[in-house]
Amino acid sequence: MAATLQINVKPLNHQLQLNSKPCSRHCSRWATIRCAAATTPSTRRYTITLLPGDGIGPEVISVAKTALQLAGSLEGIDFGFKEMPMGGAALDLTGVPLPEETLSTAQQSDAVLLGAIGGYKWDNNEKHLKPETGLLQLRKGLKVFANLRPATVLPMLVEASTLKKEVAEGVDVMVVRELTGGIYFGQPRGFSTNDIGEEIGFNTEVYSAPEIDRIARIAFETARKRHGKLCSVDKANVLEASMLWRKRITALASEYPDIELSHMYVDNAAMQLVRNPKQFDTIVTNNIFGDILSDEASMITGSIGMLPSASLGESGPGLFEPIHGSAPDIAGQDKANPLATVLSAAMLLKYGLGEEKAAQRIEDAVLDALNKGFRTGDIHSAGYKLVGCKEMGEEVLKSIEHKIPAAV
Ligand code: IPM
Ligand code: MG
Repeated sequence: MAATLQINVKPLNHQLQLNSKPCSRHCSRWATIRCAAATTPSTRRYTITLLPGDGIGPEVISVAKTALQLAGSLEGIDFGFKEMPMGGAALDLTGVPLPEETLSTAQQSDAVLLGAIGGYKWDNNEKHLKPETGLLQLRKGLKVFANLRPATVLPMLVEASTLKKEVAEGVDVMVVRELTGGIYFGQPRGFSTNDIGEEIGFNTEVYSAPEIDRIARIAFETARKRHGKLCSVDKANVLEASMLWRKRITALASEYPDIELSHMYVDNAAMQLVRNPKQFDTIVTNNIFGDILSDEASMITGSIGMLPSASLGESGPGLFEPIHGSAPDIAGQDKANPLATVLSAAMLLKYGLGEEKAAQRIEDAVLDALNKGFRTGDIHSAGYKLVGCKEMGEEVLKSIEHKIPAAV
């Protein structure tokens, strides 16, 4: 069984709906969670590891936590939260960006919700003492190789996009990013000197066939549950790792005859995303291209402050995090947009725990708060009500409580 992900915008009622359907044999974990959700009695208990991290992380996590609690309680779900230090906060407390106890707590929980990590204070640390290193260790430690980053232009936020309305309207792209391989982890890497004594820094972009195949299968399955179109992004005109990537994806395509597969070089994809983003349905790409293209795709939606993500492996807890950073410039000022983290909590419920109804409650509530005109600074424009992080959170909570969830 395999991943089944779909994010549809229904323009008529402005409902953002996540659909998932039975999966294929290649991704056992997603089948298991769905079966478990279907058969367990009315009260379910889950342990969630919260990693607030740095900057705006604690503010947005606190909003998402209350949203989870409320949506959960309305659906007979009881959460036990374990808050652990991570990133710069962990460096200050323990001297390392991912303490062993944080990783083991995360590994033993049902799902992990992360705020954001990093900040000026730790920017000049040695690599093994950077907050970002902790995040990479966490992804590797949880073996979450598939990172799903949906970029959906919500009808009520179309004006917030930097693209023209007619270009942005209706965009609904899912970036499937490989997350535990490629140049982020490839060996050899390091600093050295070259033959003529000059200082050099070097990294290795490397992918094995099985690593490509497993992310490709997730991507084909994801495309199947969306609009059946998959675009694989690489740099196969230059890089050997991309040549293998293209070869494996092309070979696997015969198993998915219903999927319309295309290939695109990453430079062209970056250009096409702002020229005509509606041509894309599902994109699959390597770790670094996915990092870059998902930031680009996020801006089409209006703000990086709106985009959630889910990172999943074959088994074990998933990692759910907004794609934005720690925004140290606005940290602690109650200005952050908590919605990317709140929507990440909805992805946690849906893809991490198979709790679709509770997830739907949260998604509906986010749309409801936006429909009522509440906007944080990043998505604000004239005529809307400017609110801070806390007030946006309160509005989402009110909507969770008062809205009858759409049928799932
Ligand atoms: C992201 C971030 C991370 C990445 C950083 C913080 C290490 O940019 O999640 O996109 O590069 O993966
Ligand atoms: Mg990034």
